[in-house]
Amino acid sequence: MEQLPVIFKCSHHRQGNSDLAADLFLQGIKSAGGNAETIVLGDMDFKHCIGCLKCRTTEAHRCIFAAQDNAQELYQKIIDAPFTFFSAPIYFYHLPSRLKTFIDRGQWAFEATADKSDFMFDLAERPAYACMVAGRPQGEKLFEGAELSLKFFLRFFKSKLQPAITFRGIDEPHDLKNSQDKCAIMTRSGELAWKRTLKDGC
Ligand SMILES: Cc1cc2nc3c(=O)[nH]c(=O)nc-3n(C[C@H](O)[C@H](O)[C@H](O)COP(=O)(O)O)c2cc1C
Repeated sequence: MEQLPVIFKCSHHRQGNSDLAADLFLQGIKSAGGNAETIVLGDMDFKHCIGCLKCRTTEAHRCIFAAQDNAQELYQKIIDAPFTFFSAPIYFYHLPSRLKTFIDRGQWAFEATADKSDFMFDLAERPAYACMVAGRPQGEKLFEGAELSLKFFLRFFKSKLQPAITFRGIDEPHDLKNSQDKCAIMTRSGELAWKRTLKDGC
């Protein structure tokens, strides 16, 4: 495998539940003989999309802020990776703001796709995985908005989000650690993601 999968830790809080979910996913990948790069997106700041729509007409649909932060570099990682994994807590029924800002800045990829740009059009479809944790034990639509945003953002990178692993009632920083069943789901998911990619020959 030429490029490593990329794991995005998207909580603004380190060493909590979604960080652990990401670490366990990586552990699963490693247990299957693989490896991955981890990006702590929750600690990064990005310029927010200002809706100027310049990316509709710039060369390669480049965002006017591309040289001002690390966002463009991270989009390239999504493009190059055989698969990606996003772990995030639910904040007010949605994704944490830094991840949402990163998603909005991905508007350039929407424009590139709408324009049928070769560099996006010719990409092979790759899977993406996600784990979302929420403190509340109930709420029918707790993960709905977050999952939809991530799914449609990734679609413009030809990355297909698999149904997200969602954990409810995980609130205190060690709640996930204290649930062996949920921890096992995460390591198994990492293992299966790596094996699937090997099988598909990505
Ligand atoms: C700003 C903020 C907003 C939150 N909003 C929600 C929410 O809408 N629904 C919910 O179930 N939990 C909510 N929570 C709880 C977190 O989702 C929960 O504590 C989660 O386990 C934190 O994950 P982390 O340890 O990876 O940061 C919120 C927490 C914070 C800090």
